[in-house]
Amino acid sequence: MDESLHTFNSLQFDLFDYYRTLLQDILRNPDSRHYDQPVYVLLGLLQEDQSFRGTLFFKHGNEVVVEKNRFRIQPSAGSPRAIQLGQEQVFWANQETSGLSEEDFQRIFHPDVQARIGPIRHFATYTSTDVALIAVYDHHTVDALDAQLLKNLTVYVQSLKLLSDQVRETEDAFLYTIKALARAAEANDEDTGNHILRVNEYARLLAETLGLDPAFCHTIHYSAQMHDVGKIHVHPDILRKPGPLTPTEIQLMKLHTETGARILGDEPRLQMAREIAYAHHEKFDGSGYPRKLSGDAIPLAARIVAVGDVYDALRQKRVYKPSLSHEEAHAILTRGDGRVDPAHFDPEVLRAFQSIHTRFDDIYEQMKDQ
Ligand SMILES: [Fe+2]
Ligand SMILES: [Fe+2]
Repeated sequence: MDESLHTFNSLQFDLFDYYRTLLQDILRNPDSRHYDQPVYVLLGLLQEDQSFRGTLFFKHGNEVVVEKNRFRIQPSAGSPRAIQLGQEQVFWANQETSGLSEEDFQRIFHPDVQARIGPIRHFATYTSTDVALIAVYDHHTVDALDAQLLKNLTVYVQSLKLLSDQVRETEDAFLYTIKALARAAEANDEDTGNHILRVNEYARLLAETLGLDPAFCHTIHYSAQMHDVGKIHVHPDILRKPGPLTPTEIQLMKLHTETGARILGDEPRLQMAREIAYAHHEKFDGSGYPRKLSGDAIPLAARIVAVGDVYDALRQKRVYKPSLSHEEAHAILTRGDGRVDPAHFDPEVLRAFQSIHTRFDDIYEQMKDQ
């Protein structure tokens, strides 16, 4: 179990897969040859209609095979009841000592179960409110210990499932809050609607193309949308001014980078978002703002977002410019137009962009503002 806990990832937890790994560990364990191992393990999960949906695990060679949702298990079938609905129960039975005829003993289980695994003579079960685990043995006389082991296994996995559900819930709430913050900031901007969401997509695509690790790709996908969060402090008259900005207004506008970094603060999970907000207007050749950083001094996430942000700005219609086609935007990013210069971008990020540039067009088209 140590090994399985070591690889436990609460956000990617899959119940069936986890049981399979655990059972595989148990059945592969060389010591287990000294014990009688179950030949089949049935996992029943309670459904809304109060029946259990049964998944079958069994050893095939050195692997544990899973037949997902193979049975419906009706708790009412048979007497004594192998699994009891709505209450915790540890139960085991051996046909020879049960006082039941072989036929009556088989009725404990639904005919579908027997049709698949044959007559059952020894089994142990553990049922809690919404899960049941049943182990079927060949020649092993089961006792309280077998049932207790099943209970321990079930409680262990259910605890991890509960943990995983709670972590996922918190993660969803976190992502939702971030999105709300990003939306609040763009409310006064002419970057309406889907710009921030498209920038998330471009950023993740570039990160993946650059071969960055999955955690980085995941983080940039929710962090990129906050690049302009500092605009919440820029006056709407400046954000929406149709004509060119005065030098003072330009200075106020440029402050959105520092303001954004301050808003995002020092929460570790917002570290990348902060770097992006602070540095997405820095340029690789050192001609950007606010700190005139150049080259690798600009955080990688900001160098990535810069490409996506400029691409998207080129595609969008503005009061001072029409919307450009993908081909035009691609040409400007890679060859320059007097204002945008390829020297502004990290050459590696730009190469990544060039290798998959048509997918930028797909993202723009799929997530176009209505
Ligand atoms: Fe910006
Ligand atoms: Fe932007």
